[in-house]
Amino acid sequence: MINVAIFASGTGTNALKLLSHARELDNISVPCLIIDTVTSPLPQMMKADFPEIKTYQILPDTELRGEARRTEHEGRIIQVLEENKIEWICLAGYMRLIGPRLLTQMKSRKHAQILNIHPSLLPLYPGKDAYERAFIDGVTKSGVTVHLVDEGMDSGPVVLQESFPRKESDSLVEFIRRGKELEWKLYPKVLSMISKGVLDVT
Ligand code: GRF
Repeated sequence: MINVAIFASGTGTNALKLLSHARELDNISVPCLIIDTVTSPLPQMMKADFPEIKTYQILPDTELRGEARRTEHEGRIIQVLEENKIEWICLAGYMRLIGPRLLTQMKSRKHAQILNIHPSLLPLYPGKDAYERAFIDGVTKSGVTVHLVDEGMDSGPVVLQESFPRKESDSLVEFIRRGKELEWKLYPKVLSMISKGVLDVT
């Protein structure tokens, strides 16, 4: 069994697509979901749709600052990853940069890797509000990228990337909707790649 953890901060539509797809893959298990906010609707949705999966709400300690806060936060996350023997992490709208402590921890484990989904044709538009910035720039196409996570912002090696056209009549809402639909297909495809062992990047 390959154990995958999903990390999310927001609405969690990608997390839910990954969880549904994982149920169809015999050798993939998602023992836990990690959330770093109090506002995400995911804990309620998990209770209803995925009661067998442990949901951990792990919030950063607001008494701490900067690197100390991140290191302490990642220490508690690592404990959960170890308890659940996690080999892959899928960041699904996790709005926090992964720090050296967690990156080093994953690198030290054979086959352990971190993936992220980003709503642009990386290396274009890394960082926040990628759909909005591409739309305002008047791009004729945009896309979605799943990549390995390194110490930078959306900068690790690309695993899978697909584009979608921007139609002239598109409003921003329609443009984002088309992008999200592509995200919901692309990330599960990467989970299938892990399942088939064709994404063995160690
Ligand atoms: C997605 O657009 C994803 O590409 C980006 O954050 C957003 C998360 O959306 N990293 P959701 O919470 O999965 O709906």
